[in-house]
Amino acid sequence: MGRVEGKVAVVTGGASGLGAASAVLLAKEGAKVVVTDLNDAGGQAVADQIAAAGGDAFFLHHDVTDEAAWEAVYKAAVDRFGRVDVVMNSAGLGIGGAPEEETLESWHKLMAVNLDAIMLGTKHAIRTMKEHKPATQGSIINLSSIEGIVGDPNLGAYNASKGGVRLYTKSVALYCALNGLNIRVNSIHPGYIWTPMVENYAKASGDLEGAKKALAAMHPIGHVGEPDDIAYGVLYLASDETKFMTGSELVIDGGYTAQ
Ligand SMILES: NC(=O)c1ccc[n+]([C@@H]2O[C@H](COP(=O)([O-])OP(=O)(O)OC[C@H]3O[C@@H](n4cnc5c(N)ncnc54)[C@H](O)[C@@H]3O)[C@@H](O)[C@H]2O)c1
Repeated sequence: MGRVEGKVAVVTGGASGLGAASAVLLAKEGAKVVVTDLNDAGGQAVADQIAAAGGDAFFLHHDVTDEAAWEAVYKAAVDRFGRVDVVMNSAGLGIGGAPEEETLESWHKLMAVNLDAIMLGTKHAIRTMKEHKPATQGSIINLSSIEGIVGDPNLGAYNASKGGVRLYTKSVALYCALNGLNIRVNSIHPGYIWTPMVENYAKASGDLEGAKKALAAMHPIGHVGEPDDIAYGVLYLASDETKFMTGSELVIDGGYTAQ
């Protein structure tokens, strides 16, 4: 038996990075996975990879900033698999810059994907889980960041969005627990993990190798993380091993925030 055998998981941002690694690991451990993303080719490839390994998954095009699209995703998950047990909110954007150069347009774009979408996905997950009961417990896993705990001089909007995810998660965890909804809600706080998001950030500096070394040096453990370092945290929170865990912040950061 896998650690999440038979659970139904919806993974946003499933075409790339942390979402893709988590979708593959959840499926390997027995979950049926709905992979969603804006990137159709990448998302379909992840669903195909899961199916080729003997797992059960399908891909849906999904803009996480669109409320009607969320309703359609949960409906499709229920139509195909009967319920939703796990939601991993991984879709996200990384945009940096000096505060006095910030534009309202860029700020709103980041907030829409990194924060508004977490609210939409959580709201409709609760509605779906109330109507179609999870097999054991519901688990909503929201991707925050070390940047939701400590500040970075050039990541003001990102800091604000991820700090918002951190406390929104705790609020909803309390709401679900106090109302006996049998849904756990937790956040994950990765340090820098080598994914397309971080690679693009490093490339933008014009010195990929230098940027990679500088990022590594920020983590006491001496290197940046790999997507599976976070996927194992997702697996843990998705499984019933964490049945007493809600409103928690799971920090996986090579010691970044311990300093
Ligand atoms: N990689 C890191 O170091 C790191 C660290 C801390 C937190 N995070 C967070 O983890 C999450 C995943 O990051 P990643 O590194 O895997 O990034 P990534 O860029 O590799 O993947 C993000 C995915 O989100 C999708 N996406 C973007 N906007 C979307 C939208 N409107 N609707 C649906 N999908 C959309 C993209 O197409 C992409 O496939 C993000 O929320 C990110 O902020 C990442």
